[in-house]
Amino acid sequence: MFKDLSHDLAVKPTRDERTRQEFVASLRHHVLDDMAATMRRRYEVKVAPAYARDHGHAPATGEEAHDAMRPDPYFQFYSALRYNAQEMVFRSVIPMIDRNVESLNARVQEKLADPQAGGSVSVDPAFAVPRSVTEIDVHLAPGSYHTEYAPDDATGGAIYDNAINVFSFNQMGRDMDDIGHSFANWLRLRYPDFRIARMLDAGCTIGHNTLPWKQTYPEAEVHAIDVSAPCLRYAGARARSKGLEVHFHQMSASALAFPDASFDLVFSSMFLHELPLKDIRAFMREAHRVLRPGGLLLNMELPPNGRLQPYDRFYLDWDCYYNKEPYYKPFRDQDFVRLCTDAGFAADKFIEAVMPRYTYNSPQAFADDVSAGPAFDNRTGRFSQEIRWYGFGAFK
Ligand SMILES: C[S@@+](CC[C@H](N)C(=O)[O-])C[C@H]1O[C@@H](n2cnc3c(N)ncnc32)[C@H](O)[C@@H]1O
Repeated sequence: MFKDLSHDLAVKPTRDERTRQEFVASLRHHVLDDMAATMRRRYEVKVAPAYARDHGHAPATGEEAHDAMRPDPYFQFYSALRYNAQEMVFRSVIPMIDRNVESLNARVQEKLADPQAGGSVSVDPAFAVPRSVTEIDVHLAPGSYHTEYAPDDATGGAIYDNAINVFSFNQMGRDMDDIGHSFANWLRLRYPDFRIARMLDAGCTIGHNTLPWKQTYPEAEVHAIDVSAPCLRYAGARARSKGLEVHFHQMSASALAFPDASFDLVFSSMFLHELPLKDIRAFMREAHRVLRPGGLLLNMELPPNGRLQPYDRFYLDWDCYYNKEPYYKPFRDQDFVRLCTDAGFAADKFIEAVMPRYTYNSPQAFADDVSAGPAFDNRTGRFSQEIRWYGFGAFK
């Protein structure tokens, strides 16, 4: 079930490392699929009826569903396993990267120095990385996104690339890029007349979901920003190893160093839920500023709590309570239309997108689903084989 990274920054694991990574990927698959299904049934059959007997009503909010589940031994076992599997994701890849720091950084530098290659990487040694990244090991990643272990280090990017390969147990695309392919193709099919001359991906990490935009819209000039220098160096080298031209910049999404009306599309994926609310608001205002009239802001994200049943709210907020993602629930508690209108977009320009995974379906099945319009159901945003990605945004 486990596949090696498909580009030439891939590091070869020893047999033991490989076995460990496969074990952790299988464990996550078991917890997130099999145990999650059992836990949901248990809630419906046992936990929610017991709560209703004690309280005179069934759990009506995500918080009440969480309160109902907290004493349940199966939920406790699920949480303990899932938390430990998350730590094990990083433990299963860091020793392999540690053994290869020098050769990996040399390969990255060689690619970044290639005068024939397109695209660019600009990092700023004086850049102040936000405390929301530096003060917590975000989703239990040791050193968060920003830590540098050597001069011009790129190992943070390598750890992320290899970790997400284990974490996703083959559910996020061959190159962990299904979200990028899905959203780029959704836009192509849903708005065939929409032209992209210049686009921005905010919070790109290693650019895995940026590159599909260049593949889908080859004429576009693609820019991507992040606050993490090691991830951006790795992203630049990774894009070059795939022959794709992207411009990576170390920059905060809350203060974009781009002129007004300079992009047709501002995209982000899995980004907003890692920002404090004030930074989300600042980014949305900046997105509105840098979009040309008629341009589109499109955020792939987890669905808002207001659209889900109490159990699904609780289930998706697990990461906020137990996975060092403190901004996750405050973001999902927002009204997403309001987030857009507060940033300057008109309410009638708000859009939502719900779609199956592009690289796991036939192009025809994907196109049929897109033309049917956004169908929200309890697979939306749930990390499983049946996942349907969710997105929202607005035209300027
Ligand atoms: C979960 S990752 C995003 C993953 C990626 N976009 C994807 O599609 O999987 C969040 C990223 O946001 C970056 N980040 C955090 N705060 C930021 C900010 N204010 N501006 C830009 N990037 C930021 C982090 O360094 C990290 O790389």
